[in-house]
Amino acid sequence: MILVTGANGQLGFDVIKELNKRNIECLGIGREDLDITNSNDVYEYILNLKPQCIIHCAAYTAVDRAEDEKEICYNVNVLGTENIANACKKINSKMIYISTDYVFNGQGDIPFEVDGSIGPLSVYGKTKYEGELKVQEILDKYFIIRISWVFGVNGDNFIRTMLRLGMEKERLNVVADQIGSPTYTVDLASLLCDMALSEKYGVYHATNEGFCSWAEFASTIMKKANLNCLINSIPTKEYPTRAVRPLNSRLSKKSLMDAEFKILPIWEDALDRYLIELRGERNEREDKYKKN
Ligand SMILES: NC(=O)c1ccc[n+]([C@@H]2O[C@H](COP(=O)([O-])OP(=O)(O)OC[C@H]3O[C@@H](n4cnc5c(N)ncnc54)[C@H](OP(=O)(O)O)[C@@H]3O)[C@@H](O)[C@H]2O)c1
Repeated sequence: MILVTGANGQLGFDVIKELNKRNIECLGIGREDLDITNSNDVYEYILNLKPQCIIHCAAYTAVDRAEDEKEICYNVNVLGTENIANACKKINSKMIYISTDYVFNGQGDIPFEVDGSIGPLSVYGKTKYEGELKVQEILDKYFIIRISWVFGVNGDNFIRTMLRLGMEKERLNVVADQIGSPTYTVDLASLLCDMALSEKYGVYHATNEGFCSWAEFASTIMKKANLNCLINSIPTKEYPTRAVRPLNSRLSKKSLMDAEFKILPIWEDALDRYLIELRGERNEREDKYKKN
């Protein structure tokens, strides 16, 4: 059986869906089932359940707010991860820890390899990296998967924001000097399930293929959604945020390919499928509304 934390979030939701699709026994839990910052509860819960693998998707993900909530962010991303890893150690189960491109400093324009030089620029990035270190210190049977620019049907993300603003505005300023890759949770969930069933432990980068800037991403969303909103490219310095983001978020997939895991489809293809998924979700909601 596979236990998935953060099952009410974007990624955890689709991981559970994929496990169910494959008929793999699993349990998805949210904060209301288990607060991962409570070490006694985590230990007791996991020792009781004895999963063969834990896919740890729960995290403190409010990147800007983290600059003012350092302790809360640390407790969830570092101590919470340590609690899960300690319990995995006790029952000898595998752990998949989800990390981020924000562990890198974003310099240069070459994709970061998995052992590239670490230099988080934000509290969130720092805590996610410390979470990686805890997993590596405590366990042998672990996967660390760095992902970026996540979008899934169960939560808010850049695409949803663009779709909303694209209907309200004729023009939008979007940063063009941060380059990375979007990650569709449906595609990633399939890879995570493959990993959970394997023993090819290690550190991997996993995003959809291809690189783009946020501005290119936004323009493509508008085009594919038939919205007449013009995207105006601006530099990051004209859009200051509380937390500093890396300019270069390109992640190399070399270790994924070397281990012969399937690489994820190109991001434009993932976007097409996501827009179809969103339309399906809207139709379902409207059908339900009509019935009531
Ligand atoms: N989103 C991105 O763009 C992005 C980019 C790179 C990496 N990542 C990583 O990818 C993973 C999944 O991200 P996501 O976008 O799916 O995140 P998400 O939608 O924010 O989901 C995270 C989940 O963790 C839960 N959680 C927070 N604190 C908890 C606690 N103390 N105990 C138990 N559960 C707790 C949250 O529950 P509540 O809703 O109750 O708070 C939420 O459901 C995370 O590890 C994240 O760091 C995300």
